[in-house]
Amino acid sequence: MQNGAKMDTILKKIDEDNLEKTVFEEAGKILRNGGLVAFPTETVYGLGADALNSEAAAKIYAAKGRPSDNPLIVHIAEKEDLKRLTTSILSEAEVLIEAFWPGPLTLIFHKRAEVPDGTTGGLSTVAVRMPSHKIARELIRSSGVLIAAPSANLSGRPSPTEAKHVWQDMQGRIDMLIDGGKVGIGIESTIVDMTVNPPMILRPGYITREMLEEKIGPVEVDKAAQAERIFEIGENYQPKAPGMKYRHYAPRADFIMFEGSRPNVVAEIQKRKQKEEAVGKKVGIICTDESRDCYFGEYVVSIGSRKNEKEIAANLYKTLRNFDETDIDVILGETVSRDGFGQAIMNRLIKAAGYKLINTDG
Ligand code: TXA
Ligand code: MG
Repeated sequence: MQNGAKMDTILKKIDEDNLEKTVFEEAGKILRNGGLVAFPTETVYGLGADALNSEAAAKIYAAKGRPSDNPLIVHIAEKEDLKRLTTSILSEAEVLIEAFWPGPLTLIFHKRAEVPDGTTGGLSTVAVRMPSHKIARELIRSSGVLIAAPSANLSGRPSPTEAKHVWQDMQGRIDMLIDGGKVGIGIESTIVDMTVNPPMILRPGYITREMLEEKIGPVEVDKAAQAERIFEIGENYQPKAPGMKYRHYAPRADFIMFEGSRPNVVAEIQKRKQKEEAVGKKVGIICTDESRDCYFGEYVVSIGSRKNEKEIAANLYKTLRNFDETDIDVILGETVSRDGFGQAIMNRLIKAAGYKLINTDG
């Protein structure tokens, strides 16, 4: 894409259980020629380019409107491919790879010189992930290129969990979109920095701290990855994952979260709704199945049952994105449990709300 000129984006729908060869041949050709192909992974849709071609990587930044200091994750199809990106794989990393690859875990290593600065945002390290999604793996394997891929959304918007979200953001900006249906997990991979001791979680995800510690012992968490209030990190703290510093996952409307005991949260949300409506604002509510009946109005959305954190994760970005299709001015949301995978869900919710979190227990 040059000077923001529109291109025709090829759309190909394929079935995970019937990997049509011609689609991969076409996509592989585009990738080898330095083009952009969006594809499903088990976490969210990715926007792929040849990771070892810095001109191709640069196109990703242009298509997403992404700040150039925000590095990309390199996706590989075989564990062997890791050696093309780094020479420093410590035993702890080997244990995690054995346990969690292929899957939603990204590991950070010192990079080889062959990995261009255009892919790593000028950092001396490289983030690597081996996805488990069949379409993602077949694309990497058959194209013969290692694929740099951020989430396939316009910078700042919620990540895409369905092909139609990618189409909304990227149609005319990329060469091809492979539609493989809805993704399974719905939240981006856990990122762990393996260049520090002890290893450090830079972004929480489906693979939790407990799961990592069970394999390799103590793991730390970057302040920016667990803070829920801006004062806990300070306005000027630089997150270790550069992407964590940007406004992210955010809906267009003002989004405010409420935590505390269930009755207090419900009461405060109802009160706030009335207050906003009194000044002419349109209000939406994000709740759970357990509290759905406590609220009234046109835009009350449940993100799932509190008993099923996987369901909540899978619905999260779609719910935020759908609000952008409405004329809602303010979204009031309930918090969810921070246990296990809940840590990652809350991390995304808090970031989407720009740290606007009200404690109703007073
Ligand atoms: O699940 C995922 O990880 C998805 C799918 C497509 O694989 N990808 C994804 O990429 O979430 P992206 O670009 O949206 O987020 C990558 C994050 C950013 O916060 C970036 O700053 C961080 O990874 N990152 C990448 N390379 C890094 C490095 N060398 N050091 C520290 N952080 C890094
Ligand atoms: Mg992203």
